[in-house]
Parts: sequence; C-alpha cells; structure tokens
Amino acid sequence: MIKKIVFYSGLMILVAGLSMAQVWKAPDQEKAKERAKERVKFVKEYKNEDIILHKMALVEKGITHKDITENYFLLDSPIIKEREDHYGPVRFAHKRHAALIEDCTACHHYRPKDESMSETTRCSACHQDSFNPEHPERIGLKAAFHQQCTECHQEKQDGPVTCTGCHLKNVPDHKDLVKLADGADAFEVTAECLRCHDQAGEDMLKTAHWNWRGPSPFTVEHRKDVQHGKGTTALNNY
Ligand code: HEC
Ligand code: HEC
Ligand code: HEC
Ligand code: HEC
Ligand code: HEC
Repeated sequence: MIKKIVFYSGLMILVAGLSMAQVWKAPDQEKAKERAKERVKFVKEYKNEDIILHKMALVEKGITHKDITENYFLLDSPIIKEREDHYGPVRFAHKRHAALIEDCTACHHYRPKDESMSETTRCSACHQDSFNPEHPERIGLKAAFHQQCTECHQEKQDGPVTCTGCHLKNVPDHKDLVKLADGADAFEVTAECLRCHDQAGEDMLKTAHWNWRGPSPFTVEHRKDVQHGKGTTALNNY
C-alpha cells in the first residue's frame, strides 16, 4: 500500500497554477467562443498579388484598425479539433496586435479572388486540412498559425514562443473533481489523486527519483545506513 501511495505536492502546485491561468476571460468571451466554433467556407481561388499591392489596396479602401470588429479571438477551430484537441482555445488579442503592428498584411497576406469578399478574410477560409491534394501549396490551418504566430514572436523577440505560452492544457477544473474532507492528511490527498491518476502513480514508482537509494555518509546518525532514498526513509514518503 505504502508503495502505491505517491508524493504529489509538486503537482498540486501545478494544478493551482492551471486554475489561476484559466480565470482569464476576454471582455467579449461568449461571442469569441461562438466565433471559434464557426467553420468558414473554403476559398479555392486567391488573388495572387504582391503583398505591397495588397497593402496599397487596404490604404485605398481606407481599412485600418478602426475596422476591426473582433477585439479577441479564441482560436479553437473545428477543422483542427476533428483530429486533435489537446489544448483549450488559444487566445489572440486581435486589436492589440493590429495596433501594435500597424500593418494588417503582416498577417492577412492574401485575399480571395472574389472581390466581394473581405480584404482581411479569415485564415481558416484558405488554410484548412493539413494536406489538400488540390492545393498542395497551402499549408494546413494549424501549421499556418504556428508558422506565422511563432515566427513573428521569434523575430520581434516579444510574445510567447513556448508551447505553454499560447496553450493551456485541456484539463478539467479540479475544484469539482477532487473530493476531500476538511483537514485531510497527506496520505488521503495522495490516495484521492490516485483514484484517477493511477497510471501516473505507477509511472512514478518506476522513476529514478523514487527508486534511488544508497549511502548517505554525511547525514547525522545515519552514517552507516546505506538504504536512504525516497522509497525507504525519506520523510515525505506518502
Ligand atoms: C504563438 C502561439 C503558439 C505557440 C507558441 C504554440 N502554438 Fe500550438 N497552436 C496555436 C494556435 C493558434 C493553434 C490553433 C488553435 C485552434 O484553432 O484550435 C494551435 C494548435 C495546436 C494544436 C492542435 C490543437 C489542439 O488543441 O490539440 C497542437 C497539438 C499544438 N498547437 C501544439 C503545440 C506545441 C506542442 C507547441 C510547442 C512546441 C505549440 N503548439 C506552440 C498557437 C501556438
Ligand atoms: C497579428 C496578426 C493579425 C494582424 C496584424 C491583423 N489581423 Fe485580422 N485576424 C487575424 C487572425 C488570426 C484572425 C482570425 C482568423 C481565423 O479565425 O481564421 C483575424 C480576423 C480578422 C477579421 C475577421 C474576418 C472575418 O471574415 O470574419 C477581420 C475583419 C480582420 N481580421 C481585420 C483586420 C484588420 C482590418 C487589420 C489591420 C488593421 C488586421 N485584421 C490585422 C490576425 C491578424
Ligand atoms: C485568400 C486565401 C488566404 C488567406 C485568407 C490566408 N492565406 Fe495564408 N496562404 C495562402 C496561400 C495560397 C499560400 C501559399 C502561398 C505561396 O505558395 O506562396 C499561403 C501560405 C501561408 C503560409 C506559408 C508561408 C508563406 O507566408 O507563404 C503561412 C504561414 C500562412 N499562409 C498563414 C496565414 C495566416 C495566419 C492567415 C490569416 C491571418 C492566412 N494565411 C490567410 C492563402 C491564404
Ligand atoms: C507580426 C507579428 C506578430 C504575429 C504574426 C503574431 N504576434 Fe502575438 N505578439 C506580437 C508581439 C510584438 C507581442 C508582444 C506585445 C504584447 O505585449 O502584446 C505579442 C504578444 C502575444 C501574446 C501575449 C500577450 C497576450 O495577449 O497575452 C500572445 C498570447 C500572442 N501574441 C498570441 C499570438 C497568436 C495566437 C498569433 C497568431 C494567430 C500571434 N500572436 C501572431 C507579435 C505578433
Ligand atoms: C475525478 C478524477 C480526478 C481526480 C480525483 C484528480 N484528477 Fe487530475 N486530472 C483528471 C483529468 C481527467 C485530467 C486531464 C487528463 C490528463 O491530463 O490526464 C487531469 C489532469 C491533471 C494534471 C495535468 C496533467 C498534464 O498532463 O498537464 C495534473 C497536474 C493533475 N491532474 C493533478 C492532480 C492532483 C495533484 C490531484 C489530487 C489532488 C488530481 N489531479 C486529482 C482527473 C482527476
């Protein structure tokens, strides 16, 4: 039994961190969530114009950041979700980015050939499946975001470049999952986590962190004991 019970307090700090991070809400969170679910009709033909010409077209039409109606996007496309859904929505402060970068075409590089469509049509109209045999030149939506978002952050040395900078794991709120009486002791807490994280507990028992043991010549009163280690004498062994 003791062996099955595992030291988890590091993870608890992690969980506290996760639930803190999930508190953030966009001012128009509900609308942003609705937008995130939309599936945009695929645009086959794009206007193959130079980016400078596209920029000039925007100037001519007087399109500026004042034309931005969506301050925020929660990027969580159904196109990507079909295949993988490891993370919650990626938040993207659209207006803030537009004001900072002052150039819509830094992101909205091409427009559809159909002139009745917007100069700043969504990425997900042209970038969809990871590979489309009819349009092999186009990268998929996930790659389009990863490439454009991360490259600029790297270039400007500003904005997140690490996975967790943009992604929160799809982890359910543990406030509702963990059921513990007030004043539960360390063993009870660990047992409660293991109720669902059985595999994590098994894996932990196979790590060097758990299995290492050996002499500890400098520990007062334990100089001759060669069996120190997490799984034997360590105090926080629960
Ligand atoms: C600059 C922001 C950014 C960074 C950094 C980033 N991503 Fe993403 N990632 C996105 C966006 C945006 C999407 C598309 C979200 C959507 O529409 O579902 C995405 C989608 C994904 C998806 C598919 C969606 C899902 O929920 O499973 C995976 C998997 C993923 N990213 C993994 C990673 C990994 C691994 C790293 C680090 C190596 C990383 N990302 C770094 C922005 C980022
Ligand atoms: C840093 C990149 C970036 C910049 C700069 C930027 N946008 Fe966007 N924009 C996006 C992304 C990402 C989306 C959402 C794409 C999606 O859902 O597929 C978007 C969506 C939009 C939409 C919604 C389109 C639709 O069909 O619903 C409009 C309108 C828009 N942008 C206008 C602008 C304008 C105008 C500017 C310049 C003043 C601008 N954007 C600057 C990245 C950017
Ligand atoms: C009207 C269609 C269209 C829209 C809208 C569009 N793209 Fe693209 N995108 C393309 C095409 C076509 C290519 C391939 C271009 C080529 O061969 O040079 C491409 C290529 C890319 C590439 C590969 C590198 C490059 O720059 O050529 C990235 C990254 C990319 N798009 C990201 C985005 C993002 C992010 C958005 C939204 C802000 C977006 N695209 C909106 C049509 C579009
Ligand atoms: C053309 C450059 C550029 C592109 C493209 C770009 N970013 Fe950024 N981003 C920045 C800069 C510069 C900052 C830092 C400025 C700041 O403090 O907001 C930043 C900051 C951020 C932040 C941290 C600030 C916040 O709002 O929490 C996030 C998250 C972020 N970007 C997500 C994205 C995502 C997702 C995309 C792609 C859809 C993207 N960015 C595309 C330039 C860019
Ligand atoms: C009723 C079931 C349940 C209980 C009880 C529970 N969890 Fe979870 N936990 C989950 C699920 C489901 C996930 C998301 C899927 C995953 O990552 O395994 C998760 C995810 C996590 C993650 C994120 C893992 C990652 O890959 O990022 C951590 C950390 C975590 N739990 C720690 C704990 C700790 C510590 C306890 C005890 C205080 C606990 N959990 C109790 C169900 C539970």
